[in-house]
Parts: sequence; C-alpha cells; structure tokens
Amino acid sequence: MSAKVYVFDAYGTLFDVHSAVARSRDAIGPAADRLSELWRVKQLEYSWTRSLMGHYADFWALTEQALDYAIAATGGAIEPSTRAALLDAYRTLDAYPEVAATLTRLRAAGAGTAILSNGSEAMLASAVDAAGLAGSFDAVLSVHAAGIFKTAPRAYELVGARFGAQPHEVSFQSSNRWDIAGAKAFGFRAVWINRSGAPDEYADLAPDDVLADLSGLR
Ligand code: LAC
Repeated sequence: MSAKVYVFDAYGTLFDVHSAVARSRDAIGPAADRLSELWRVKQLEYSWTRSLMGHYADFWALTEQALDYAIAATGGAIEPSTRAALLDAYRTLDAYPEVAATLTRLRAAGAGTAILSNGSEAMLASAVDAAGLAGSFDAVLSVHAAGIFKTAPRAYELVGARFGAQPHEVSFQSSNRWDIAGAKAFGFRAVWINRSGAPDEYADLAPDDVLADLSGLR
C-alpha cells in the first residue's frame, strides 16, 4: 500500500459521463456525441469561471445549464422528455467495470477510500447508490462544503479535514488531467487515470503515476 487514503474524483473517473447520452442516442440522433462533449466541457467551464468570480452555484445547477447550452448549440431539436431522461441518467451513470473490485481490494488492505467531487451531495449519493457502491467509501465528499470547485486548494483541503491525513498520505485518482494538476499542486500523490489515451499537459504538475484504468492502482 502506498497511501493511507485513496481519494477518487467521481465524474469520468468512477462514472462514465458519456453513458447518459449513450442511453438516449436514438432520440438525439447524429448530434449525440457532440452534445455529450459540449455538455461536459461547458459544465467544467462553468465550475472554473464561477470559482474565479467567487460566485459558487451547485454543480447540479451547472449540469442543467450546461445541458441546455449543449442542446441549443447542437440545433435545439431535443424533446423535453429526452432532456429529462438525460438528467435522470446523469444521476444514475454507469460505473466503469473495474471500480467495485478496486475499492474492495484497497479496503481489504486497510486503506481508507473516499470520493472528492465537484458534484452536489444529492447527485453523488444517487450515482453511488445506483452503481451499488454505497458500502465502498468511508466518505463521499462534495466541494459544496467548501463553496468552491476544484482546482481551488480549499476543495482538496476537505480530505485532510475528514481523515486527519497529511497531503502526502493521500493518493488522489482522477481521469481529468486538470484535476491531477490541482491535486499535485496541493501536495497529494496524484495518479492520472488516462482512460482515453489523452496527450499530457500541465508539464510542471506531472502525475506520480499514469494508468489506463483503476485496476492497477497500488
Ligand atoms: C468531479 C468532476 C468534475 O469532480 O469530474 O467529479
């Protein structure tokens, strides 16, 4: 074991954000992939701009606003029932296949496990429940308690406050390279789960390890 506590980003790392649009692919049509990408990109943009402005808003609200932008930008031809289905799906996203076994293995070895996510408490609770992961975490931490999104240090501070751990005792896993940069700047051991084979960035804030999925996490 190389850490006392293993902390996971939620969206993109444990849960497949594109599984929401995948479930309504037929109803959306050829714009489905672009809509899914834009939905995610705008959701994140809103989190960063609001953090810089000091105008925090709940991540669920940003998720809805980003979806409405993505719908408008891809032609707007989405039925209200499809919009509702997409938002419902976001509360019950598919977990990646290796997530449950990885958490079981880490906990059996005596490590603490947690989520640290921009997501609101309610959206995280429903995603964790829907994926059958309710017993897999010692804590599900939402940045809502800090009133600012990652990559603000105040968001990463929630881990130490909950576990009484120093940053170097925490292994932080994210599929989002921007989040790995934030975690590294904060002082965590940072493991980039590069599921999509994305090129590296933030060269001065390099991950301690890079894995294709969570199964090889040590
Ligand atoms: C998370 C997102 C934004 O914090 O990936 O879970």
